[in-house]
Amino acid sequence: MDPRSRETPHAPGAPSFIPLTFARLDEEEMLRRARAFRLEMEGRRSVRHFASDPVPRALLEEAILTASTAPSGAHRQPWRFVAVSDPAIKRRIRTAAEEEEHRSYEGGRMSAEWLEALAPLGTGWEKPYLETVPWIVVLFEEVHGRNPDGTVRKNYYVKESVGIAAGLFVTAIHRMGLATLTHTPSPMRFLGEILERPEHERPFVLFPIGYPAPGAEVPNLRRKSLAEVALWREAPAPTSAGAPGGAPDAAPESRVDPHA
Ligand SMILES: Cc1cc2nc3c(=O)[nH]c(=O)nc-3n(C[C@H](O)[C@H](O)[C@H](O)COP(=O)(O)O)c2cc1C
Repeated sequence: MDPRSRETPHAPGAPSFIPLTFARLDEEEMLRRARAFRLEMEGRRSVRHFASDPVPRALLEEAILTASTAPSGAHRQPWRFVAVSDPAIKRRIRTAAEEEEHRSYEGGRMSAEWLEALAPLGTGWEKPYLETVPWIVVLFEEVHGRNPDGTVRKNYYVKESVGIAAGLFVTAIHRMGLATLTHTPSPMRFLGEILERPEHERPFVLFPIGYPAPGAEVPNLRRKSLAEVALWREAPAPTSAGAPGGAPDAAPESRVDPHA
């Protein structure tokens, strides 16, 4: 019997604990794993040109289960993934997404500043990949849940929780050798209508998923260095006399950003 499933009966709402499964690694191994994973994630890119090759549903199931391991406010797991491979539904999604995107890009809904920010990406209102891809996964946030008697069951930190789940989903997709795009053809109400979701489920992100098209290109972007995204407030290094000293922001060699 899996020790993790050894739960003792308890009153509803009472805390119940199981032993944590955790293996401590030596620091060398930790660094090796951390670097290998970071290098792998550095290869992740948002893809906008997909091949039509099929992708087994089992792979998406794994990605959704991985996303579902995300921490969430009060463990409500306020997410719902709707996976679409039906060509008729994908066509409807493309048509509706392009209508919204046309209004945004060409109809004056996006500010000049926004369009300028997007210019280096070379994106526009046309989204042919929404029909090319084998799968579209729409992630909905559950604004609230429902009790068995139909009354509202509150969720907590919904956006934070769903954002973390989305990050894990993107990571899982990349790790398994597929590509996706974090796509938000806003306003996205049409997704709830097409996919017949209830009012309390709001579209959060749409993920086209598949293999990149042969020869696919991506924008030539630079990612921020460690120094640009991280600040450190560490304990002062001990002086030779054993007393704390040194400048609080001094950066010993081990802390120098190797990617700056
Ligand atoms: C919340 C969010 C919304 C996004 N929406 C769109 C979108 O609607 N269309 C699009 O082409 N890219 C979209 N992107 C993708 C970003 O443009 C992309 O992540 C960014 O340019 C960095 O590129 P990379 O993902 O290849 O590192 C979105 C990304 C995020 C996180």
